[in-house]
Amino acid sequence: MSDLFRLDGKVALVIGGAGGIGSALALGMAENGAKVVVATMHSMESLNKFAEEITAKTGMESMAHQVDVTSEASMAGLVKDVLARFGAIDILVNAFGLNMKRPALEYPMDDWEKIFAVNVKGVMIACKHVANAMRENKKGSIINLSSVRGIRGYGGGNSAYCGTKGAVEMITKTLAIELAPFNIRVNALGPALIITQGTIHIQQSPELADKYKALIPLGRLGLPEDLVGPAVYLASDASGFHTGQTLFIDGGATAS
Ligand SMILES: NC(=O)c1ccc[n+]([C@@H]2O[C@H](COP(=O)([O-])OP(=O)(O)OC[C@H]3O[C@@H](n4cnc5c(N)ncnc54)[C@H](OP(=O)(O)O)[C@@H]3O)[C@@H](O)[C@H]2O)c1
Repeated sequence: MSDLFRLDGKVALVIGGAGGIGSALALGMAENGAKVVVATMHSMESLNKFAEEITAKTGMESMAHQVDVTSEASMAGLVKDVLARFGAIDILVNAFGLNMKRPALEYPMDDWEKIFAVNVKGVMIACKHVANAMRENKKGSIINLSSVRGIRGYGGGNSAYCGTKGAVEMITKTLAIELAPFNIRVNALGPALIITQGTIHIQQSPELADKYKALIPLGRLGLPEDLVGPAVYLASDASGFHTGQTLFIDGGATAS
């Protein structure tokens, strides 16, 4: 039973793997037996250091690679290098993303396009290129990062962000159907607010923290580690009949 959730022998590519959520997921994949590739736009120096940390903590092989998810050429280069090093990609975690909060009535369309380029086009480019590699092996698990903002509207300048996450919801469902014949499963995690570098100011302000906690039945803010178990489940054979779904990791926020 316990082996059901192990990732031994699998290769996990975590894009956005140096981000707040992505770094926890990359480490979590390695802790559960996967070889891990961390990729972001970060400088190679800091990425290599993080990959070395993963290996030091878990004993699992890890490699770093720079990628810009908005570029097909860059993604093709990443996939080629991972296949050359590890021979396969079994798990893809799309843990990258961008938000720029702007009032809807003044939304600069350049910013809108940047968010959609990373959060929507980037997800499709990553899924397309990695799924082509997974297809060769007739198996794979893709995990996208959606959000409770993909199914619930939210003010405060989030029109572009919520729009992109709604798109991720439907891309996830549609690819699940289209890739099922190749035994490639496509799911998403839908977190509520998770405390990372970009959201730490909320935890640090008692007033803001209380406002967010009031939306969460479990009464606390989420942590990147809260996503590790669900991600390992979706990556592992334990979820073999699970595709086209979003697991909302939200302390009950979307239960009502
Ligand atoms: N934190 C939350 O409260 C929360 C809640 C719900 C959903 N999410 C979603 O979870 C995902 C991760 O969020 P996070 O909080 O961990 O964000 P984060 O700490 O800002 O990390 C985002 C990551 O995306 C990478 N990235 C951005 N643009 C890229 C590009 N063009 N090519 C490759 N990588 C790129 C960044 O790389 P660089 O650092 O190198 O730029 C970084 O590693 C996002 O999809 C986000 O929308 C987050």
